[in-house]
Amino acid sequence: MQTVPLGNTGVRVSALCLGTMYFGTRQDEATSFRLLDHYVDAGGTFLDTANIYAHWVPGGRGGESEALLGRWLKARGHRDRLFIATKVGFEYGDVPRSLAPHLIEAECDKSLRRLGVDVIDLYYAHVDDRVTPLRDSLEALARLVEKGKVRFIGASNYRAYRLERAHALSKANGWPEFCCVQQRYTYLRPRAGQTFDPQLAANDDLLDYVRARKDEFTLLAYSVLLGGAYTRPDRPVPEQYAGPDSDARLAALRAVAAEIDATPNQVVLAWLRQSDPPVLPLIAASTPEQMAENLGALQITLSAEQMRRLDEAGV
Ligand SMILES: NC(=O)c1ccc[n+]([C@@H]2O[C@H](COP(=O)([O-])OP(=O)(O)OC[C@H]3O[C@@H](n4cnc5c(N)ncnc54)[C@H](OP(=O)(O)O)[C@@H]3O)[C@@H](O)[C@H]2O)c1
Repeated sequence: MQTVPLGNTGVRVSALCLGTMYFGTRQDEATSFRLLDHYVDAGGTFLDTANIYAHWVPGGRGGESEALLGRWLKARGHRDRLFIATKVGFEYGDVPRSLAPHLIEAECDKSLRRLGVDVIDLYYAHVDDRVTPLRDSLEALARLVEKGKVRFIGASNYRAYRLERAHALSKANGWPEFCCVQQRYTYLRPRAGQTFDPQLAANDDLLDYVRARKDEFTLLAYSVLLGGAYTRPDRPVPEQYAGPDSDARLAALRAVAAEIDATPNQVVLAWLRQSDPPVLPLIAASTPEQMAENLGALQITLSAEQMRRLDEAGV
């Protein structure tokens, strides 16, 4: 699988990261193992999970996705070939939403245990915390790196100015810096004023910020396929995305897809990868067909003219 640099880490990661949010809850063990094998057989190495996945599914408590990954890693024995990202900061069970230092440290130990690994490759602050001083959270994350429990750190659901503040604080203190931000982002644009609280969608400020730092800081995108809404009649486009430009953008997407014999989902993934700043999409799948379609996006290169048409649709 193609690889791309991850921020300032010096490490290259798979051009499509596999989200495993529902592995071990909505997807049973056998299906999850098959999907993980499918991704790895295609050369994929970059896996995304979080301590809280997926506590909101009936019967879930949080930790199921990490624990399933742990069992799969043990069964397959190829931990060293993989780049594993997990996250801390959102609430689940009796753990509050917070990036307080003691909580970061305790949750990191739990994640290491559930994953059955010695080190987490990428540890995200899953959501900004405006109560805990940013300096304290960054120092706690730096300590994890120093102790060898975490290799690199990232941010998710952060605003651009907070990322810049974190950048300045880490630099001034000689701490490791966030190498990336993971935000909600797709081809359709949210209508003005729409929110996804507690999630944050990438806005113009964030894109501008990442563009200015694109040699050292990566934008990853989640919920890129809007749960299948680009192609599935049973999945209406979420109402936050149903804006004055959405019909024009869907039409452009379908036209480009038809021209190159690809699916609209594949064009969304290719558009993200070829955008400026380039975006590293997270893919998720619950069937082998979805996985194959999503991985197939790596075979596509959109022409400059197709990118322009997609960019300008609905403007
Ligand atoms: N940082 C954050 O705050 C945050 C938030 C959300 C997600 N994430 C990460 O991002 C990953 C992806 O998030 P997401 O699930 O919201 O992504 P998504 O791409 O919007 O939705 C994935 C779902 O879409 C459907 N799907 C996938 N491929 C398809 C295809 N080719 N054709 C038709 N339907 C398809 C499947 O639904 P069915 O299973 O129902 O068929 C799949 O489970 C997660 O696993 C997680 O790792 C991070």
